[in-house]
Amino acid sequence: MQFHPGFITFEGGDGSGKTTQIQMLHDYLETQSIFHLTTREPGGSSAAEEVRKILINGDQKKWDSISETLLFYAARRSHLTDTIWPAIKNGKLVISDRYADSTVAYQLYGYQNTNITKEQLDILYQMIAGHFKPDLTIILDIDPRVALSRVQKRGEKDRFESKGITFHERLREGFRKIASIDSNRCVLINANQSKEQIHQEVIRLIKDRFL
Ligand code: TMP
Repeated sequence: MQFHPGFITFEGGDGSGKTTQIQMLHDYLETQSIFHLTTREPGGSSAAEEVRKILINGDQKKWDSISETLLFYAARRSHLTDTIWPAIKNGKLVISDRYADSTVAYQLYGYQNTNITKEQLDILYQMIAGHFKPDLTIILDIDPRVALSRVQKRGEKDRFESKGITFHERLREGFRKIASIDSNRCVLINANQSKEQIHQEVIRLIKDRFL
């Protein structure tokens, strides 16, 4: 099938269903023989997967907020140069589970790191990516209380609850703000629907913009 290569990102809080939706989209693109690549952040290249281990495993407080933020950008740079840009150049549709909006939503809105500003994040972003940005960002929007019941089922309740419900509420507001500021690139989908209903909305968007 004819399609335009490009870059799609999925964003949302923990338990919003991103990973399931990306798997469903991957299956759909396979059936349509659309040349694509699914990837994730932090990670997505061999160096960035190393950084992911450093960020996610072990004591969560081993990095101060500035070091942690810089590690996300270091991993992102490697993800871009080693995976995303070569794949787009090869004509693929690239789909990433999280990207730069996660840093704004988590580090700024969620964790409320007062020693980091949006202006600084914009400068760092430009340094690693120039003017490159996703063609489409799908933000799965869900009430954190509903998300909590989902993560409970897959045994990740502790990780979710350790951040506190108000953290997840701020995170949700952050993603909603990002979507309202950049409304051409971002589309908010109500994630409190069945997997199939969300998938149909995703397919409609992909067909409109890439097929
Ligand atoms: P995951 O659970 O979706 O794999 O994401 C890993 C964690 O990393 C998740 O808690 C969100 C967090 N994260 C940030 O805090 N900042 C970022 O820039 C990215 C990409 C992820």
